[in-house]
Amino acid sequence: MEKKIDESVQGATLTLEINEKNTRKLYIESYGCQMNFSDSEIVASILAKEGFNTTQELSEADLVLVNTCSIREKAELTVRKRLEKFNAVKKINPNMKVGVLGCMAERLKDKFLEEEKIVDMVVGPDAYKDLPNLIQEIDEGKNAVNVILSKDETYGDVAPVRLNSNGVTAFVSITRGCDNMCTFCVVPFTRGRERSRDPQSILEEVNDLWDKGFKEITLLGQNVDSYLWYGGGLKKDYDKASEIQKASAVDFAKLLELTALAQPKIRIRFSTSNPQDMTLDVIRVMAKFENICNYVHLPVQSGSNRILKAMNRLHTREEYFELIDNIRELIPDCAISQDMITGFPTETEEDHKDTLSLMEYVKYDYGFMFAYSERPGTLAARKLEDDVPLETKKRRLAEVIEVQRKSSLYRTQQHVGKVQEVLIEGPSKKSDAHWMGRNSQNTVVVFPKENYKIGEFVNVKSYDCTSATLIGEAVGYSKNN
Ligand code: SAH
Ligand code: F3S
Repeated sequence: MEKKIDESVQGATLTLEINEKNTRKLYIESYGCQMNFSDSEIVASILAKEGFNTTQELSEADLVLVNTCSIREKAELTVRKRLEKFNAVKKINPNMKVGVLGCMAERLKDKFLEEEKIVDMVVGPDAYKDLPNLIQEIDEGKNAVNVILSKDETYGDVAPVRLNSNGVTAFVSITRGCDNMCTFCVVPFTRGRERSRDPQSILEEVNDLWDKGFKEITLLGQNVDSYLWYGGGLKKDYDKASEIQKASAVDFAKLLELTALAQPKIRIRFSTSNPQDMTLDVIRVMAKFENICNYVHLPVQSGSNRILKAMNRLHTREEYFELIDNIRELIPDCAISQDMITGFPTETEEDHKDTLSLMEYVKYDYGFMFAYSERPGTLAARKLEDDVPLETKKRRLAEVIEVQRKSSLYRTQQHVGKVQEVLIEGPSKKSDAHWMGRNSQNTVVVFPKENYKIGEFVNVKSYDCTSATLIGEAVGYSKNN
């Protein structure tokens, strides 16, 4: 199951092909969402030009970077433990420098550098191009910091190196930041205002990935449906754009279409969609192009209109159902997944029941569910008391997870008996004799390897399943192969 915050990869280190000329060693660890993992590839790409090779051995590192996540308190606590560990290693290897990247850098800069003095460098998500200068400063024994959030940085001109890649699937970031200001969410504060990347540079990256043998890309953003390119600049400044800029603007539906046309054999996914911004045009483009996968990640967070309003999610439960109905009408076999939060301030048992009934209606294929975690600085933290007891949050979370487990099983069962195109990503985790891949709906499929190879599109007939995995047998190459 694809996870936005995939627990199994948290803290993964990145390694890159060794460049013999490079003499310094970089150890880079990433936490949080896919955007952070994607950013770490940009960072590694910038530092490869500064004389750094990557290493997985902490003890031999000259520079340790941690790309951090602030989304929930637990994420920050995990990173803090790692920083303590790095500090202990520094005592043995005093030449080692430690830097914090990403969302926690933005949120905790002063604390890290001045109060706790546990790091040498603090770099926010929009300042990675400044890394060469910042590293020079720490080399001279100073602390270095750049947490300036940018109006136009999209790293469109930095070709990310693909790290720990399966060579088959890759992420391509298309927007940075978020303007939605959901009241529980720290992202607008740590990643700044929303801006879109030049479609030309996106298409170039996609073409390049195809040339390198990649077969599937995921267009990435906090809110991809809000993508809008009008020559650069913040989304909120679109009103001030000239008539020519407006006439030639590219929205997400258009970008999807351009991408699908540019590489008709590459599979296209995107994440994350926001119900208030997803348009019928996007669904129509999905329906029109075979190479756009039938899968939408459409977080809702709550099924209660009162809570949706308190969260500043700018749609109602009824509007959400309308969107779901439209998706199902235009793409009958479209998979839909959710993010859900239990125990948002003031949530009653009635609100919680609304969440459960919404889930029963949609019958999501997958879900990512969380107990509310108050984040300092957010509107909810400032205006609302975190008044749902932890026990209640956890009990409601367990109930939400149980409903999801049942609907995941139901949805996975619907694929059994069908022949579906699967892109092979690698060996199955459980068996060396099996390949693992995904169907268009993003469901994991495992089947005997036979003579098929990684990166091939194969038709697989499933004959059994668990709640998240289909078990099948290949019946030949798909026509896309
Ligand atoms: N639009 C983003 C959302 C990032 S946060 C995206 O690309 O997916 C991912 C999920 O974390 C959110 O959808 C929400 O369900 C959850 N989340 C965010 N803030 C949270 C908080 N304060 N407490 C609990 N869960 C939270
Ligand atoms: Fe956060 Fe809402 Fe944006 S969840 S990332 S503020 S869409």
